[in-house]
Amino acid sequence: MTWNFQEIQEGMQKEVAALATEEQLEAFRVKFLGRKGVIAEIYDSLANLSKEEKPVVGKKANELRAEINRLLEIKKQEIKEKKVLGEPLDVTIPGVVSPVGHKHILTQTIDEICGLFESMGFIVREGPEIETEFNNFAALNIPLDHPSRDAFDTFYLQESDPEHDGRYLLLRSHTSPGQIRIMKEHKPPLAVVIPGKVYRPDAVDASHSFMFHQIEGLLVDQEVKFSDLKGLLTVFCKKLFGEDIKMRFRPHFFPFTEPSAEVDISCYICQAKGCSVCGRKGWLEIMGCGMVHPKVFEAVGYAKGKYTGLAFGLGVERIAMLKYGIQDIRLFFENDFRFLKQF
Ligand code: DAH
Repeated sequence: MTWNFQEIQEGMQKEVAALATEEQLEAFRVKFLGRKGVIAEIYDSLANLSKEEKPVVGKKANELRAEINRLLEIKKQEIKEKKVLGEPLDVTIPGVVSPVGHKHILTQTIDEICGLFESMGFIVREGPEIETEFNNFAALNIPLDHPSRDAFDTFYLQESDPEHDGRYLLLRSHTSPGQIRIMKEHKPPLAVVIPGKVYRPDAVDASHSFMFHQIEGLLVDQEVKFSDLKGLLTVFCKKLFGEDIKMRFRPHFFPFTEPSAEVDISCYICQAKGCSVCGRKGWLEIMGCGMVHPKVFEAVGYAKGKYTGLAFGLGVERIAMLKYGIQDIRLFFENDFRFLKQF
């Protein structure tokens, strides 16, 4: 028997074009590709063909089968799409709710604080968590015998010795080395806040963690005054904690600022009357600050006496704990959704 492939093909194409339902599609498939279908019939007939004819007809049958498969696939898709579009939409079927996450409360706090400083012209920069001993200490005028350089207060990544040149690596114990990095790269005027993680080998309890977050601030220009520092931090604290709070700048010591101060705000929980949060003092310690020490400018190679600057540093967990009444620092890091979902 000989096969008129062209005729079969044309007939097949016409039939495909007319298919409209899944049932018709299946019937068509059986007719051409089924066990007793056209293609099977052609293959069966190969046995009776001559040696010369066999490969020619076999090849054509293969091509026809491939073509049928191709058209079937296209038609199947077409029918499926029509079905979807054609079905009436039931708007009462409950939708598929995909869980949407949100920023961690610490990230929100960092964003809020950095945002406040950005609104006052500061830029946000980050520095590495692995720092040199030079940037973390020496450049910040923290002398060799300062207690915080002791291995107990800092995670050293390489063993330190007193005769070194400050190139030893450690996990930064504060964000202040970010000041050094910025000043080494840029000339004043500059105003920058540097958020990030810091590390100290503290035993973990309700108010201590071996890792926590700080935000460092630095503004350097000519003729920056202590009154600029007071004004800036007063605006910041009022924006963060409310216009009604009072501010107190308490003299303090930091090696990298002179003069230095600690900033207190009046306890907004008890209106400074004294409660358990402020330890009956009426004041809450918020951050450290001061005027950049000339030795720090010297360490970054700024011309002597040319610039003045203000700096400040605050603990993000502490601010968040005060702002939201959180009593245990460990809650931030335990990834308990019941806690995190509240914010
Ligand atoms: N680096 C200090 C700390 O970790 C915080 C600090 C205090 C930063 C005063 C400053 C500053 O920039 O001026 O305790």
